[in-house]
Amino acid sequence: MLLNKDPRLHTFANTIVDWQRRHGRHHLPWQGTRDPYRIWLSEIMLQQTQVATVIGYYERFLSRFPDIQTLASASQEEVMPYWAGLGYYARARNLHRCAQALCTDWGGAFPKTSAEIATLPGIGRSTAAAIAAFAYGERCPIMDGNVKRVFTRYFGIEGITSERATEQLLWRSAEAALDQAVPAPDMAAYTQGLMDLGSQCCTRSRPDCPQCPLQSNCYAFAHSRQRELPAPKKKKTSPERQCKMLILASSGAILLEQRPSPGIWGGLWSLPQYEDEQALATACANWGQSPGTAQKMAGLVHVFSHFRLHIEPWYLRAETPIAAEPAPRQAWIPVGDLSATALPAPVKKILGGLFDESFLF
Ligand code: ADE
Repeated sequence: MLLNKDPRLHTFANTIVDWQRRHGRHHLPWQGTRDPYRIWLSEIMLQQTQVATVIGYYERFLSRFPDIQTLASASQEEVMPYWAGLGYYARARNLHRCAQALCTDWGGAFPKTSAEIATLPGIGRSTAAAIAAFAYGERCPIMDGNVKRVFTRYFGIEGITSERATEQLLWRSAEAALDQAVPAPDMAAYTQGLMDLGSQCCTRSRPDCPQCPLQSNCYAFAHSRQRELPAPKKKKTSPERQCKMLILASSGAILLEQRPSPGIWGGLWSLPQYEDEQALATACANWGQSPGTAQKMAGLVHVFSHFRLHIEPWYLRAETPIAAEPAPRQAWIPVGDLSATALPAPVKKILGGLFDESFLF
């Protein structure tokens, strides 16, 4: 059957609206506002990141940058500490660029349609639609990873969801579900309901079908194909990289190095990093320290979007205070100031294991 003739399209959206009102989430900090700035910030933070992790970051960010103008007039260095540890730092750089574009090109306010919002830096079609649906009630569909799962299972859409043809079919089915919904659905409840259903009920493994409002008409449920839909992506094997990090402590301070921007961790303060033990030993010697006094600590693996980094931390505490000046972009940061420093997540973890954990937020 042609997807846009599927009779289930008339009831799909309102079934989700009813379910959201009764069983969805209603008390997340970014709900109950129609301010597109707050909604935008939450949607960007929630990309690739769990709700529970986002909440604290969201509140700290908003208390420092309460509106578009405050964010636009800050420097990127001022913004990064509020993102440190959330990962995918291009999101923060785009957020800042986007605030500046809103001030220069849009009179300091968000445009009023999803199509215009989608032209802004760092905002794709689905995020633009979420903002327009929550802020303005626009009748426009979203299609993020969770929502793809709901649609592939319910409508029986085969094919790998990141492939163009399947993605187009998904968008068309999401458009049809909105076009054919009677009565016109409450867009905030529908959009939130799709997200809630995907993250609480139609989960990747062990979906909770008995609780699902779509169960009686769901293709995957009827054919016991929940485990096969959505079709698994071809496994890509990430390249493995390795490095040594030096934790050099002197007079209650740690040597940190600001990472160049653009680049991974651009603008964040990381530990000096070396390719091999020889380079690490040379660095220790340059600080007047015997490399033999550095202690190897337990390693960790950090997963980036395109590779896996094996980190081997080495700890060296100088017996007598180091007087030499740090190199450009390096600084001695007192241990007590680490909590206010923009550290990448694995660096925070390494330092948190060594010093008082209270500096972790
Ligand atoms: N994931 C993406 N957007 C979300 C939202 N508004 N609420 C909960 N989870 C989300």
